[in-house]
Amino acid sequence: MERLQKVLARRGVGSRRKCEEYITAGRVEVNGRIVRELGSRVDPHRDEIRFDGQLIAAVAMIYLLFNKPPFCITTREDPGGRPTVMDYLPSSYQDLHPVGRLDWDTEGLLLLTNDGELTYKLTHPRHQVDKTYRIWTDKRVGKEEMEKLRRGIKLEDGWTAPAVVKKISPGLLEISIHEGRNRQVRRMMSALKLAVNRLQRIRMGNLELGDLPAGEFRELSSQEKEQLKALFCSS
Ligand code: URA
Repeated sequence: MERLQKVLARRGVGSRRKCEEYITAGRVEVNGRIVRELGSRVDPHRDEIRFDGQLIAAVAMIYLLFNKPPFCITTREDPGGRPTVMDYLPSSYQDLHPVGRLDWDTEGLLLLTNDGELTYKLTHPRHQVDKTYRIWTDKRVGKEEMEKLRRGIKLEDGWTAPAVVKKISPGLLEISIHEGRNRQVRRMMSALKLAVNRLQRIRMGNLELGDLPAGEFRELSSQEKEQLKALFCSS
């Protein structure tokens, strides 16, 4: 038996938090009876679950690793008509949603899935997924700046947590952070008066961008999926 909101999220109804709202709002039925209690457990193989009257059957979960090019927005739709990451995916993948966000001009590893449960876990601040970025700057980065990045930087929304920072060449850094604040890396660099010429995410949790070309995607391997779930779906 599993918690109802977990099963709903896994079947793509929404994030786990959204599914909790749907349950308390009385929009979810199990075997013909509206269930509003959040602790309710269901048998995903036997119980008939409906959302707004529609049967919510098990769907195959898809996990895509995409190399986001710069100059597209990480959203399913843009009312302003700007290019979105969805423009790069064929129609068979249009039901997926991006996990988290990369800025318009940031490139690199973006996960897309229809697994609401995993999305919730990966984007929840409690889970602290490590993310590694490559930063191309306009100047050589000195020792003092490296130390500041490592220790944490005071931004308008508070100090950043300690980071792991490596210098690959005088103007190219690799930084690993686990927070997911808006434009965090760009703001950290700007606080040090260093311009970012290019920003690319190369790693997230156990996932690596590798040599996947920009604008291309691939499905995760079974091993990558298992590792991701073991890391983030055990609680
Ligand atoms: N940090 C940023 O500044 N931008 C991103 O897109 C991701 C992390």
